[in-house]
Amino acid sequence: MTMNKSVLFLVSTAVLLSGLFVTGFVGAHGGATGVVKERMELMKSLGDRMKEMGAMMKGKVAFSSEVIAANASEIQQASPDIVRLFPEGSLKKPSEALPRVWEEWDRFNEMTDRLIGEAGKLNDVAITGTRREIMIQFTKVGKTCSSCHTDFRKKKEK
Ligand code: HEC
Repeated sequence: MTMNKSVLFLVSTAVLLSGLFVTGFVGAHGGATGVVKERMELMKSLGDRMKEMGAMMKGKVAFSSEVIAANASEIQQASPDIVRLFPEGSLKKPSEALPRVWEEWDRFNEMTDRLIGEAGKLNDVAITGTRREIMIQFTKVGKTCSSCHTDFRKKKEK
């Protein structure tokens, strides 16, 4: 089996960029309440789905297109809730959201729609596509996560 290196590179980059390896930050969100807590939990579950797929893309666990399709479908189903979980001005600590979410609300909505669309495509391609096509589409989903984080989430302090 020849694993395409550039695809693998894209996959690792997408996984890293999308902030999926947040294990180091677990606990940083103690004290979150209400809608902030709810959306952090939603995001966390999206992260778990991506992490499970990312481990397959990197060959750490057995590749299963069924599991990928199921994870993609869960992301697709859960994501429409993102918009509801960002009511105007909900920036209560320890939220990492930026005020820009509401200043550029249309774009925030578009990015949510993009995630729903890309996750839907991953669900389809997991059923019909080659492993390479699946990896490429997974990367697109990861980039959708990370581009929203780049614009709308505070940078991690190191
Ligand atoms: C439409 C914009 C948007 C999209 C798309 C998006 N996120 Fe987020 N994400 C955010 C924002 C904003 C926060 C910060 C929320 C807060 O702290 O109040 C966040 C926070 C997170 C967190 C940290 C949660 C916590 O416990 O603090 C994780 C993990 C995460 N996102 C994963 C993902 C993954 C994985 C995807 C893609 C499958 C994704 N996100 C897609 C906007 C987005």
